[in-house]
Parts: sequence; C-alpha cells; structure tokens
Amino acid sequence: MSATEKAIVEVRDLSKVFEDVRAVDGVDFDIYQGELFGFLGPNGAGKTTTINMLTGLARPTSGSVKI
Ligand SMILES: Nc1ncnc2c1ncn2[C@@H]1O[C@H](COP(=O)(O)OP(=O)(O)O)[C@@H](O)[C@H]1O
Ligand SMILES: [Mg+2]
Repeated sequence: MSATEKAIVEVRDLSKVFEDVRAVDGVDFDIYQGELFGFLGPNGAGKTTTINMLTGLARPTSGSVKI
C-alpha cells in the first residue's frame, strides 16, 4: 500500500500472555481502507486472541491497537 493510503487498523508489538502461555508474541500489522485482509494461521497461532484484543474482548499484555 502506498504511504498516502489510510491505515484504519494499526497493531504494534501486540502480545498476550495467559498464565504460562504466550498466545500472541509481538504482532505488527496495518489494515488499509478498502483492503481485503486475510488473517491466517494454524490452530493455536493466536488468531482468536488477537481478534479479541482488537474488539476489546481481551486486554493486551503489551503493545497497542489503534482502530
Ligand atoms: N483463555 C485462555 N487461557 C489460556 N490459554 C489460552 C486462552 N485462549 C487461548 N489460549 C491459548 O493461546 C494460544 C492461542 O490460541 P488462539 O488465540 O485460540 O489461537 P487460534 O485462534 O489461532 O487457533 C493457544 O495455545 C491457546 O491454547
Ligand atoms: Mg481461533
């Protein structure tokens, strides 16, 4: 994406730790306006935990989410 296009989601160094499990480990990505964004990974990769942090259902251990 070009620098002039607008990021509508900005994820920076996002992590989530549950007790002894590091479910999400320093994730960075941007989603741009109008973009079709695929969010893929094997079972247990941390997709659901990441989406829960983007939607406010889970609090990040560290890092930031900007919508
Ligand atoms: N509430 C929870 N408590 C403890 N561990 C969890 C919890 N939710 C997810 N996990 C663990 O975090 C990791 C990522 O899980 P998850 O985000 O569900 O992955 P995905 O959606 O990519 O399959 C897995 O190891 C899973 O067992
Ligand atoms: Mg899942």
